[in-house]
Formats: sequence, structure tokens, C-alpha cells
Amino acid sequence: MMGKARVAILFGGQSSEHEISCISAGGILGALDRERFEPILIGITRAGKWVLVDQATTLEIKDGKLPEVDSSLPAISADIHGFTVAGTPLAIDVLFPLLHGPYGEDGTVQGLCEMAGIRYVGSGVLASAVGMDKSFAKPIFEAAGLKVAPGVVLKKGEWSASQIEGLTYPVFVKPARSGSSRGTTKVKRFDELAAAIEYGFEFDTKVLIEEAVVGREIECGVLESAGKAKASPIGEIKILGKHEFYDFEAKYLDGATTVAFPDDLPAGVEESIQRAAVTAFNSLGCEGLARVDFFYSNQGEIIINELNTMPGFTATSMFPKLWNRAGVSYSQIITQLIEAALTRSAHVTR
Ligand SMILES: Nc1ncnc2c1ncn2[C@@H]1O[C@H](COP(=O)(O)OP(=O)(O)O)[C@@H](O)[C@H]1O
Ligand SMILES: [Mg+2]
Repeated sequence: MMGKARVAILFGGQSSEHEISCISAGGILGALDRERFEPILIGITRAGKWVLVDQATTLEIKDGKLPEVDSSLPAISADIHGFTVAGTPLAIDVLFPLLHGPYGEDGTVQGLCEMAGIRYVGSGVLASAVGMDKSFAKPIFEAAGLKVAPGVVLKKGEWSASQIEGLTYPVFVKPARSGSSRGTTKVKRFDELAAAIEYGFEFDTKVLIEEAVVGREIECGVLESAGKAKASPIGEIKILGKHEFYDFEAKYLDGATTVAFPDDLPAGVEESIQRAAVTAFNSLGCEGLARVDFFYSNQGEIIINELNTMPGFTATSMFPKLWNRAGVSYSQIITQLIEAALTRSAHVTR
């Protein structure tokens, strides 16, 4: 390509992971290879307004304050013709949708890019949507030969009491499209179930009830390289203190968890998890990257929990950490993802 590729980093957004997305954007801005790429920052406010963000903006935690997209910045209009600021088209070669959760990681922004003919980093519409909705991802994982936690899906206003009979407790109740453990409850007895279901329905119209897996939480990064999905070393989430599970506080409060690289697993387990991660990636038709989360049960089973098509992407997030372990730097991951996106077709079926 002649000149530098203009990379639009799209961040913020309407989901509960707004600040994490801002911090990830700051990380990418700092690590982007300026010899090859020219960044453009596009923020989405909490209310959903798209704005052009100045590159001097602070996108990190400062004086204990989390970064946020400022709604007083110049508005960007985004439609099927592309992006414009005050009527002037914004020239971009590739979009990095650094958004988590609904309206970002779920295929919606990807659909907008497809309509506008804009290349973008990561999974397409279908894989993004399926990865976001656990009630659809689980049967696909199963069909690909992976093990999932047994469970049922309840639809708001349509479920029946027979669906929640005979569960083995404890169970996890979680919204189908949760993120950051929002709306998720561990339920130890039947008489606590109704309240947990009701709470889950505050976050989504579908709720999953799953038997709790007793074991360890292991994550694996998948990165596409020259069209082939490759798995990173595995990492384990170690929850410190009194958290019952990897809940919202454990995820975001300082010092509540650490990442470990387990060396005490039986021979072959890491390789099996890596294979399962690649299988999961391919089963949903993912592109670019994904973080695949597993349980390694106390019975020695490898059970897939979920796949995230846009995992946390700050320099110290799990996904970059896993690749650092394999000798791939944060900056190299970013370059690889952008280059893969630039070489991809901007047409859905070609
Ligand atoms: N079936 C399960 N067995 C054991 N723990 C679970 C189960 N489902 C969820 N959890 C716990 O809840 C956390 C959040 O659930 P998860 O399905 O990963 O949703 P999210 O998309 O919000 O991360 C997990 O990291 C794990 O600690
Ligand atoms: Mg999770």
C-alpha cells in the first residue's frame, strides 16, 4: 500500500464496558506502529453519539478517574455511505472496533461496516453475533465436539416450571448476552432460583441456567496468522479473596485476581485446550482474534464456557498477556490484526 494506512480506532460505546474500551483504545494508540499506520480516534459516548476524539485526549486512569468519551466533541455521522464530520468524509482504510458487548461485539457495528464497504478488524457479523449470545454459541460448540456445561435456556414470559425441575445445585444463572458477569448469579438452592432468574431478565430477554462446574478457569487466545488460527499459551484466572466466582468486582477491582501460567496440569492438557480453542474459533467462523474461556474441572474435563470475539485489549489484559508469553508483543498483535483486516475482501460473500 502507498503511504500509511489510516486506522480508525472505534471505542467507548453504550455497554457496561465503556471505560475498559477507552483504556484499550489508549493502549492501542500508544503501541500502534506509526511508520505504517496513522490513527484516527472515533469515540462513542454512553448515550450513543459518535464523536471525533483528539489524539491528545487522556485515555487512561488518571487521578483515580476512569476515562470516558466526551459528548461535547465534534459529531461524526456514520451511515451506509461511510463516516463524515461536519459533512466532510472521514478517509479511513480500516476500522478497529474496540467495543465490548452489545452494539459493538455483537455484529451490529460489523454490519454497518459491511454496508459502508469499510474493512474492519476481527470477526464478521455472524461470528460476532453468535459469540455474543451464549444460547446460540453453546449448541454450535457441542456440534463441533466440545463439552459445555449442561443447562437450559429460559425465554422471558415463555418459560415453564418444568424447565427448572431436577437441576443439580449449585447452578449459574446468566443472561444469554452478558458480559463482565453482569446479571450473573450463583444459586445454591432452589428457593433462591426465582430471584436470580428475575435479576437475569433485567439484562436480557433470555437467561441460561447452567450446572456449576467445579474446577479452574483457563483462558486461551486465538490469533489468525496468514489465514490460519493459532492458539496462545493458556492462562489461569486466580481469584483472590472472598469472591464466589469471577464476578464483576473480581474482574475490575485492583488486586482481586491474578493471571497464572499453570505448570501443574497433567501432560497434554494445555495442548488439548489449545486445540479446543482453535476448534471453537473455527466452529463459529471467527476471524482475526478471540479469547476462548474454559473450565478445567476437578474431574479432568475440558469444558468450554464462552468465546469473546473482542476480548479486553488493554496492554495488561489477558489476551495480550497470553501472546506476550509466546513472544508476541502488544504492538505486534495490533499490526497483525490490522494487516489481516486490510487484506480481507470488503465484500460479504467474496
Ligand atoms: N457453569 C458454570 N460453572 C462455574 N462457573 C461459572 C459457570 N458459568 C459462569 N460461571 C462463572 O461466572 C463467570 C461469568 O460467566 P460467563 O459465562 O463467563 O459470562 P460473562 O460473559 O459475563 O463473562 C465465569 O467467569 C465463572 O466464574
Ligand atoms: Mg466470561
